[in-house]
Amino acid sequence: MRDTPFLVVDVELLEQNLAGMAAHARRLGLALRPHAKTHKTVEIARRQLAHGAVGLTVATVAEAEIFADHGIDDLFIAYPVWAAGPRAERLRALADRVRLRVGVDSIEGVRMLAASRAVVTVAVEIDSGHARSGVAPAEAAAVASVALDAGLGVDGVFTFPGHSYAPDRRAAAAADEQRALQTARDGMLAQGIPCPLVSGGSTPSVEHTAPGLLTELRPGVYPLLDAQQWELGSADPGRIALTAHATVVSRRGRRVIVDAGNKALGADRLAFATGFGRLPDHPEARIVALSEHHATIELPETAAVPALGTVLRLAPNHVCSAMNLADRVVAVHPDGREEEWAVAARGANT
Ligand SMILES: Cc1ncc(COP(=O)(O)O)c(C=O)c1O
Repeated sequence: MRDTPFLVVDVELLEQNLAGMAAHARRLGLALRPHAKTHKTVEIARRQLAHGAVGLTVATVAEAEIFADHGIDDLFIAYPVWAAGPRAERLRALADRVRLRVGVDSIEGVRMLAASRAVVTVAVEIDSGHARSGVAPAEAAAVASVALDAGLGVDGVFTFPGHSYAPDRRAAAAADEQRALQTARDGMLAQGIPCPLVSGGSTPSVEHTAPGLLTELRPGVYPLLDAQQWELGSADPGRIALTAHATVVSRRGRRVIVDAGNKALGADRLAFATGFGRLPDHPEARIVALSEHHATIELPETAAVPALGTVLRLAPNHVCSAMNLADRVVAVHPDGREEEWAVAARGANT
């Protein structure tokens, strides 16, 4: 018995999710390079590679350093890395021991990266509709050309169709992604710049990825899944492999309080979310309020109200945030055996 709250990975579901995405990428003829910022866990990364992933995607130099320390030697920092100050030296040291690709989305960023003298290749980030980082598709060739002139290898282009995180936008975001990447790649080819890499993917949109243009998929959330994916329709609740176990500590009418708040679950709540997480075993319940150490769960008239002391399983809204709050997770194997996995890259934000 453990004191609550704690995070549990159901290894059987994890393996099913890993196998499912690996098969999807194979069917489409795409390399799979999962985003490891979701789990930050060496054990899950190794399982992804065992299922055929070509390497990992990460968000920061620090995440890359930690996975490199654990022998993972093909990494893509899918982020417009600003290679100034100590980060330049860290990039150089990292690139000496792993195969490293880095995202760029400005000419200034490219020049900074070249000045760091890190032996990296670059991929130009394209904005395909998420309106975050990334250049307009037609500008990819200009950034790539400066990178080549500065002596950097150019792999191609990538995008994150993050606008798939909205009701009924999954297929449309995949179509936007396809269009934007096509324009960017064609623009590079028209300038005589080879573009062997065309990389995209988000967990909500990958189901709608069309074959033929992309060469690489980078979903992150798919091994564990969460309440957001459930509510978007990109995951059945029975496939959610990561839950927080929490105890009912207080009870008022049709509401119970459990001992997992935003310090265990994370505070994410996108506009479409029906609450602060969901309960896979009580789909009718809603988490109507969240403070640091309390989640308030409301049950409808039709459901029994759990007794004080009951341990409930909560799926966080956004699994990446929940993982980043935990030092370790409890991995439960199909035979009931339990193991603790360190969240090795937790807080590796630099
Ligand atoms: C650049 C980039 N690539 C891939 C992903 C993975 O997508 P998802 O989290 O939807 O699985 C993310 C997630 O934020 C991302 O920012």
